[in-house]
Parts: sequence; structure tokens; C-alpha cells
Amino acid sequence: MDLQAVERYAIEHTSEDSPIIQELIRASEEDLEHTDMLSGRQVGRLLAILIKVSGARRVLEVGTFTGYSALTMAEALPDNGELFTCEYNKRYENIARTFFEKSKDGHKISLLMGKALDTIPTISGSFDFVFLDADKINYPNYYEMILPRLAAGGLLVIDNVLWGGEVIARESEKATAIDRLSKMIRDDKSVEQLMLTVRDGVTVVRKK
Ligand SMILES: C[S@@+](CC[C@H](N)C(=O)[O-])C[C@H]1O[C@@H](n2cnc3c(N)ncnc32)[C@H](O)[C@@H]1O
Repeated sequence: MDLQAVERYAIEHTSEDSPIIQELIRASEEDLEHTDMLSGRQVGRLLAILIKVSGARRVLEVGTFTGYSALTMAEALPDNGELFTCEYNKRYENIARTFFEKSKDGHKISLLMGKALDTIPTISGSFDFVFLDADKINYPNYYEMILPRLAAGGLLVIDNVLWGGEVIARESEKATAIDRLSKMIRDDKSVEQLMLTVRDGVTVVRKK
């Protein structure tokens, strides 16, 4: 089986991103060299569907980049929904803010600039839904910080859990940290989880 062709086929049979999100992708590609950081249509549509079916209202995102997944999730939230998204690289702030301001759903988004381990504690209350997609080395630390703040029945979605397959040999620090988190989740009786082989691997965790 040609896996690349299968993935292409899967993407072609997945809902398209909204016109403003397609514009955000084009703007990111024109301005930046690392647009492979964008989580992409399969992960984006998965996030949107999970937010809609779970009825989430309060969302935390760790790792904004230029705002692709933040805006995708904001579009899926009800009008009184709230999304807090954490980013520390000022280089990406301009594109993200421009598109949050331009979108009719941007009013739901608060962008917190600074290291996420410092900015997350400044947000009060609990979260119904969390998307973890920032520095892989800190994945286990984010889990310890976020899980107590996730509402019962809430969902935590983690991107890049396969890290291009490196989690199997664990020869880099990042792959080792990601693998450590996956084993913490597997052994945590307070959650149930499903690791999907979508794109670079996505784990969906539900707090019991
Ligand atoms: C993979 S990208 C996020 C992609 C985004 N979720 C999307 O789908 O477009 C990871 C982002 O996390 C940011 N990041 C890395 N370490 C961080 C930290 N300690 N605090 C806040 N942001 C961080 C990076 O600057 C980068 O923009």
C-alpha cells in the first residue's frame, strides 16, 4: 500500500478549511520557512469535530504558531466559547493576531505571549478541551500541569505523539520525552486514551 497516496486520499475526502483559514495558511507560507509546524487539515478537522461533539466551551491551546489550530477550534466553539492559546515566539504573533482580528470568531481567542509553563497558571478556572502542540521536551510537564485543570469528561488532544516514528527507538531527547508522556498516560487510571496514527500521531485523552 502506498501510504502517501492513502494519506492524500484521506485528506481529499476530509472537509476543507474555511476560506479565512486557507488565507492564514497562504500568509504563513509566504512569510515563514517552517510552515510544517501547522497541524494541518486532518488534525484541524479532528479538533473541530471533537469540540462540536463534546460541547466544549472553554479551551486551552499550548503552541499557537500562526493561529491555524486556534482559529479552527474557535470556529467550532459556540459564540460564548473561550479559547486561550499560548505562544512565546514573537515572530508568529503578527500573523496570528491579524487573522484573529479579521475572523468573526476571533473575539473568543486570548493569545498569551510568554513561556507556556509560566502563562498557563495565570489563566483561572478549568478547561473542557486542551490541545497540546508546543515544545516536546516539556510534554510530561504540561501533562502534570494541565490534567488537574481538565474538567471531568474533558478531552486533551496531543499532537506529534509518533514524532516521525522516532518514539520507537527513542534516540533523541524529544522522542524520549514524548514516549515518556505516552507511557504516563497509558499508566494513568484517571484517564482513557486513544492513540491515532493520523499524520504525525495524535492521542485523544478523556479524563474520567
Ligand atoms: C507545532 S507549533 C504549533 C502549531 C499550531 N498548533 C498549529 O496547528 O498551527 C509549536 C509552537 O509552540 C511554540 N512553543 C514552543 N515552546 C513553547 C513554550 N515553551 N511556550 C510557548 N510556546 C512555545 C513554538 O514557537 C511554535 O510556534
